Amino acid sequence: MTSPYPQSFPATRLRRLRQSGWIRNLSAENTLQRKDLIWSMVVHDGDEPSIPVGSMPGLVRLNVDEAAAAAKRASDLGIPAIAMFPHLNPRYKDETGSEALNPDGLVPRAIKAMKDAAPDVGIICDVALDPFTSHGHDGLIDASGYVMNDETTAVLIEQALVQAAAGCDMVAPSDMMDGRIGAIRQALESEGHSNTMILSYAAKYASGFYGPYRDAIGSATALTGDKKTYQQNPANSDEALREVAMDIAEGADMVMVKPGLPYLDIVRRVSETFAIPTIAFQVSGEYAQIKAAGEKGWIDETRVMMETLLCFKRAGASGIITYFAEAAAHQLND
Ligand code: PBG
Repeated sequence: MTSPYPQSFPATRLRRLRQSGWIRNLSAENTLQRKDLIWSMVVHDGDEPSIPVGSMPGLVRLNVDEAAAAAKRASDLGIPAIAMFPHLNPRYKDETGSEALNPDGLVPRAIKAMKDAAPDVGIICDVALDPFTSHGHDGLIDASGYVMNDETTAVLIEQALVQAAAGCDMVAPSDMMDGRIGAIRQALESEGHSNTMILSYAAKYASGFYGPYRDAIGSATALTGDKKTYQQNPANSDEALREVAMDIAEGADMVMVKPGLPYLDIVRRVSETFAIPTIAFQVSGEYAQIKAAGEKGWIDETRVMMETLLCFKRAGASGIITYFAEAAAHQLND
């Protein structure tokens, strides 16, 4: 059999296509564009401006007015969408995360402010109870601390409806309860939100890389135990395909793989197996690693940031949720 890749040296010198910028660009197989970026943003319910998050240098919690201004900047920079995460004053947290259902709560207020400031920027909201529960889990727990599936789903439906009613374009269930995509889709349809999209955190792993995020939204100190009874085992790959298949069958418009970089094999399998937009989430711990090594001078932060984002595209992601969105967009504007 003849090889489809003849390597007859010196007729073939692969370095010819690497010799200068123009030919490297012309022969590039993948490109990162501003339209690929989804800005991961933390919004808090106080008045104080820009509160730094210790474990995520450069990330600040924005008040609602600042979030609206940031949405305007996203629009100007060509960043298509914002994934918003709330940080609540602990006084609003309880066992059942009831503040998640408050139509005048932080999330609905922030959605409205951002949509007013930048109607053309997509707003994506996390559907899960962890920013709202005193115990830091994504759902309702029983006496033993187990997160109850169907009881949680019933609440998530209401949370998604509150977000949709406030003008959220896309709800993103990140809780990993079984059956929640279908239940939320059905509720959105019957409440007149048939155009509200669902981005399912379909293949979401029980990961140590979420540590800084839990600081950012203030759920770290509260969390008892881990999330291994609902999030996926990092050992598994086939299981991710089953998760994604289920969520597509239940009505997901887009699916997500999370975390990002350590799970690029999953991004590749999902994007190749299913004809559906696949989003990768470059999570807080990935951001923190790059920032920390950059601050120490051990890596070139900007270069590594841009490289990692391009690698998501190479793996098959149609978009990337990242805390670097604004910084990366500035690089791409250059
Ligand atoms: C939870 C949620 C998490 C993230 C987004 N939504 C963390 C978790 O599952 O504990 C992580 C985001 C990040 O680490 O950047 N509903």
